[in-house]
Amino acid sequence: MRVVIHGLSKEFVTGQRKIHALAGVDLEVRDREFFGIVGPTGCGKTTLLSILAGLEKATQGSVEFVGEKRTQAMVSMVFQDSALMPWRTVEGNVPLGPEFRKQPAPVYKRVARFFLEVVRLLDFSSAHPNELSGGMKQKVALARALANDPEVILMDEPFASLDAQTRLLLREELLRIWERDKKTVILVTHNIEEAVMLCDRIAVMSAAPGVVKSVIPVDVRRPRTIKSMSDTDFVRCVEKIWELLRYEVDKAMKENHPSRVERPPEERARKSFLGWWG
Ligand SMILES: Nc1ncnc2c1ncn2[C@@H]1O[C@H](COP(=O)(O)OP(=O)(O)OP(=O)(O)O)[C@@H](O)[C@H]1O
Ligand SMILES: [Mg+2]
Repeated sequence: MRVVIHGLSKEFVTGQRKIHALAGVDLEVRDREFFGIVGPTGCGKTTLLSILAGLEKATQGSVEFVGEKRTQAMVSMVFQDSALMPWRTVEGNVPLGPEFRKQPAPVYKRVARFFLEVVRLLDFSSAHPNELSGGMKQKVALARALANDPEVILMDEPFASLDAQTRLLLREELLRIWERDKKTVILVTHNIEEAVMLCDRIAVMSAAPGVVKSVIPVDVRRPRTIKSMSDTDFVRCVEKIWELLRYEVDKAMKENHPSRVERPPEERARKSFLGWWG
């Protein structure tokens, strides 16, 4: 399924304050593409995914899902924290989508077991979330997203809370799953190497209010493994994205900490004259 985003803007109004989160995002994600989004903190990445998931309404612009078949479940979202139901077992957490669509119990139980096998957690079916490691919880969240049989999977920093080694392993796992049953995936991450390892193309967003600055194709051969990270093409792509991102990150930091912004010369002179009190 293709996702066509046109002129998407979002303004949050809370009391007297207006926050301009997105300022006209244009983007087209191809059918079955693994698409990455990187950008400085606060540039509106989560807001963008929330609009795609139907959790937020855009102020302006449009989102269109274009595909041959329309299933009941268009999108599934995987969050940074797995958001599992602590009172349910692992097996009980996976088939929320089919259960919600009132499929008979034997059907959704079969679906749950199938996807637990895909993420290699079948042995933990009867465990509760508090008995799992962070990486295992994220795998359950991924199984739940897949069990919903969506056309598009949205992932918002799904591995951010994990340690570096688990993160590497889960990237490989995610690639294996995606190669098996290609869905359109939109992944937000702060980790450029992660984006390059997983994605076909990567959008770099500007500092807030967010727009798409550029879309970079990732010309790294598939199938990719941890070893691909030392390929010349891989390293070059990481550098290219970092170059584009650095300027935006710097800008965002200065906006959050105005003292770091270069002041005009006359103001600097006045400041140094008045010293700390100015
Ligand atoms: N529900 C909300 N109400 C008011 N303001 C919001 C809301 N959600 C997000 N914002 C604001 O919109 C802007 C973009 O937030 P968003 O969470 O989308 O950024 P982000 O790119 O995901 O950041 P990060 O990389 O830190 O996760 C921020 O200034 C944030 O404070
Ligand atoms: Mg976010």
